[in-house]
Amino acid sequence: MRPLTSRVDTRSSNFARNREANLAGVARLAKALAKARGGGGARYVQRHIDRGRLLPRDRVGRLLDRDSPFLEVCPLAGMHEGGIVPGGSMIAGIGVVSGVRCLITASDATVQGGAINTWGVQRSARVAQIALENRLPTVNLIESAGADLPNQAEIFVPGGSGFRSITRRSAEKLPTVSLVFGSCTAGGAYIPGMSDYTVMVKEQAAMYLAGPPLVKMALGEVVDDETLGGADLHSRTSGVSDHLAIDEVDALRIGREIMANLGWQSARVPGGDEPAYDPEELLGIASSDVKVPFDCREVIARVVDGSRFHEFKPLYGSTLVTGWAEIGGFRVGILANNGVLHADSAGKGAQFIHLCNQSDTPLLFLQNITGFMVGQSAEAQGIIRAGSKLINAVSNSTVPAITVMIGGSYGAGNYAMMGRAYEPRFLFTWPNHRIAVMGPEQLAGVLEIVKRDSAARKGKPVDENQLAMLKQMLVGKVEHESTCWSATGRLWDDGVIDPRDTRTVLIQALATVHEAPVTGTMRWGTFRH
Ligand code: COA
Repeated sequence: MRPLTSRVDTRSSNFARNREANLAGVARLAKALAKARGGGGARYVQRHIDRGRLLPRDRVGRLLDRDSPFLEVCPLAGMHEGGIVPGGSMIAGIGVVSGVRCLITASDATVQGGAINTWGVQRSARVAQIALENRLPTVNLIESAGADLPNQAEIFVPGGSGFRSITRRSAEKLPTVSLVFGSCTAGGAYIPGMSDYTVMVKEQAAMYLAGPPLVKMALGEVVDDETLGGADLHSRTSGVSDHLAIDEVDALRIGREIMANLGWQSARVPGGDEPAYDPEELLGIASSDVKVPFDCREVIARVVDGSRFHEFKPLYGSTLVTGWAEIGGFRVGILANNGVLHADSAGKGAQFIHLCNQSDTPLLFLQNITGFMVGQSAEAQGIIRAGSKLINAVSNSTVPAITVMIGGSYGAGNYAMMGRAYEPRFLFTWPNHRIAVMGPEQLAGVLEIVKRDSAARKGKPVDENQLAMLKQMLVGKVEHESTCWSATGRLWDDGVIDPRDTRTVLIQALATVHEAPVTGTMRWGTFRH
């Protein structure tokens, strides 16, 4: 494999403009992450510390192996709503515990007592899917007030899938270890109840289907927390807990010991040499304006080992760049947009996905797509036929895929390039990323034509003021909804990342997908040739 040659002019005004805009995006990301990591705010954090408890991130930090990175998944869940429930009142991500790569979740008791809200339910469901697909054991660090009671209507029914998921994973030989640090009420008690291993902290953890107030209401029984569902009771009498930890640090130690004794095969350790070009330059390469294209090979050159890339069909279907490389020593097949998808580039993409399935090679999609080519000529060339072929290949491919959205993601291009609905194993975005069915101006323009045609058919005059207002409102709304901040809040991705961290994040994601067997398929839906 030969290294790519970069043609980026780092002294150009375009480079400087992009860099400035992307740095602003990265600063906004840091601010949003700091807010999410701040949990329920200074007052509740201090109260938690004053109770002599470790903060959830400290628990995660102490659980992890000393040199283990932590790949947080969906850290800004729900943040588009103003950050009232940062991160869904939980922490979730992938790290290594006692040499075992696993999913780690932690309730954040500084946010509404760690009550599970709608974003927490969605985030839990997403990480449960990651654990299942990539064959990861799970460690839960629990201290939760159970359901977010005022918003129960949003979570009650979907929330049930969390318990089902734990036991389904257990049946797939993917154990869950629950360390209980605090309260675990009602539904919340079923998390340790369904777990394969449960540890409770003495005189601190409590677990019951109904807490003392409800028991008093329902039965007239007056009973305190510890007597009703304390760690001692559950470890010695009820048998719900397998281990009684003397304190939080002891619980984390026992959790690590359990992981060490799972008999788990060690994960593949990443290797690989650094790219020949500086990832810092990605900030000047990624267009701040999604309408301005940039060569995806410049991104590949700053992400893959030694900047080496073996391009497939370089002279054909040039708006989709395809080829092989290694990232952290893991072989990948890359599909990256270099313009609008035409019939030839879509067909080439489908062929390349076949080849990667044939050779059991994971896929990396670098998505920067305004959509498929439209118009008379494109239709006559069979853009629908070719596009369907690519979507067919993306849908039926069974090798793990990772998608990074490095620019625009519009229309069916989102689907054809392994968007969220196509279930890539991981999907990350850059701060410059925009995502929508189409651009705000185009969307408002289409609606204007539809409204004018409809009025003409009815023989009614168009209210120009009303139409202008509608257009303006729509542009603003879609512009806002298209940002990566809005998308990540709604869990349309697994997180916004600093472009400079792309390689590090991909290495962790690739190490994770290799926990499960990588097996391609040669079974596809019907292709329209
Ligand atoms: N849903 C929504 N908000 C909740 C909540 C819940 N289940 N449980 C607690 N909160 C809120 C509290 O109202 C409080 O908000 P405020 O500070 O704005 O008044 C905040 O979270 C902190 O709760 P607090 O009770 O002060 O925390 P604590 O650490 O002293 O006690 C619990 C924690 C979990 C023991 C206690 O909050 C509790 O018993 N909650 C109800 C548990 C329950 O019965 N859940 C039913 C699940 S189906």
